[in-house]
Amino acid sequence: MADATLTFPPDFLWGTATAAHQVEGGNAKNDWWAWEQRREGRVHQDDCSGDACNWWVGLAEADIERMKALNTNAHRLSIEWSRIEPEPGTWDHTALDRYREILKKMRDSGIQPMVTLHHFTSPTWIWEQGEGNATGWLHEGIIPCFRRFVEKAVTDLSDLCDTWCTINEPSVYGAQGFFIGNWPPGRSNLNDYFTVVRNMLRAHAAAYEVIHDVQPHAKVGLAHHMVAWHPRSPGNPIDRGIASMLDKMFNGLTLDCLQTGWYRPLVGGSSEMPEIRSTLDWIGLNYYQRYDAWFSLRAIKQLGISYAARPGAPKGPKGWGEYYPEGLFEHLKRLHQQFNLPIYITENGIPDEDDVSRPAFLLRHLQKVWKAIQLNWRVQGYYWWSLVDNFEWAEGYDPRFRFGLYSVDFESQERTLTKSGQLYAEIAGARTLTSDMVRRYAPELLDELFPGRGPQDMETVIAVSRG
Ligand code: GCO
Repeated sequence: MADATLTFPPDFLWGTATAAHQVEGGNAKNDWWAWEQRREGRVHQDDCSGDACNWWVGLAEADIERMKALNTNAHRLSIEWSRIEPEPGTWDHTALDRYREILKKMRDSGIQPMVTLHHFTSPTWIWEQGEGNATGWLHEGIIPCFRRFVEKAVTDLSDLCDTWCTINEPSVYGAQGFFIGNWPPGRSNLNDYFTVVRNMLRAHAAAYEVIHDVQPHAKVGLAHHMVAWHPRSPGNPIDRGIASMLDKMFNGLTLDCLQTGWYRPLVGGSSEMPEIRSTLDWIGLNYYQRYDAWFSLRAIKQLGISYAARPGAPKGPKGWGEYYPEGLFEHLKRLHQQFNLPIYITENGIPDEDDVSRPAFLLRHLQKVWKAIQLNWRVQGYYWWSLVDNFEWAEGYDPRFRFGLYSVDFESQERTLTKSGQLYAEIAGARTLTSDMVRRYAPELLDELFPGRGPQDMETVIAVSRG
């Protein structure tokens, strides 16, 4: 039977992604753990990360077997600074050995690791460093601290990994912890947002330099979260202005600084930091959603800035945005035009408790990735968020925020392969997305993904014409 196929390059990286605090469990040394202990209602039902997916005490290995079962050949994980450096300048070699075991298991299983060096969590001691209120990531003293940690970790792990992601999502970290205030350290100050993003970009640049000193052939980048911000009424200049301002503050600030070395916050003066220019060997895109932005008098305290999913559009739970695959394509185009560097989609995924919308989401987004590759944009890998359900920050273990290709029963630690996991395994195994897969997993998408082919596959057409 004739089958329409979208073929991916043979060296394309098919991956999944996780982060230390969300899967390891048993961490009692970082700022997120301390935040959970406060039980102030800022995490869903005051959940604590607890055992998470128990990677630290041994379940990582079985999950790496699952990566193999998915036919993937790459995984993005993070290492926990607070485990490796529990006190300033003191190294825990047992922790480093555990990471060596995990990385070795990945390599032995044919899974190429990408290691993130900061994924939202920091040792509690960093918040004692600095002056007055300006401690931790609000103080530039963090930059040499982070550099020292990176130098140690990369030196010890360099025989097992050469792809490093310095920092995960400076703008999400800055917005959640320092502007919105629902993540540690729980501050709400626009200036703090700009200070933290600047310090993270400087820390990234310091890490880039030291990693290349230790491992000259290393491939170093950063994972940048981008939201598709669109005006609710494109004809309304105020809505357009708000969407463009959100885009600048959230998406553009980081990219422009990495490209030009100029940091241009919306408040406070611009500054040039030439050391940040040319500190990328690749750029990572974390993409999930689109928001419409508009002006509303009801949001006057936030200067009238409002945003939400488009009414009636498919969207995630609570305040999550709209599922909008075209946004992935828009961002890949922008990154290609701005940097012309290798691009990894370091995260893409959907909170979907019952795995109802996930197969279609995966297919629609992968079709955009394929399209970008056909245009010769240098997209070299795709890391699905996430391999397993895990601890979702302020959403805790809220079942609505399950992202895994394997669902997890957190009581028994049992994993179950989802339908979307089977689909991903088929695609990664064949390195191809076919109309047959679409017909089996999300037939309603046939017309959208293979336009002109018609809603029915050949078998049905033949069967119908035969009566
Ligand atoms: C982020 C993170 C992940 C999240 C994921 C789902 O983007 O916030 O990198 O840690 O769990 O994005 O929200």
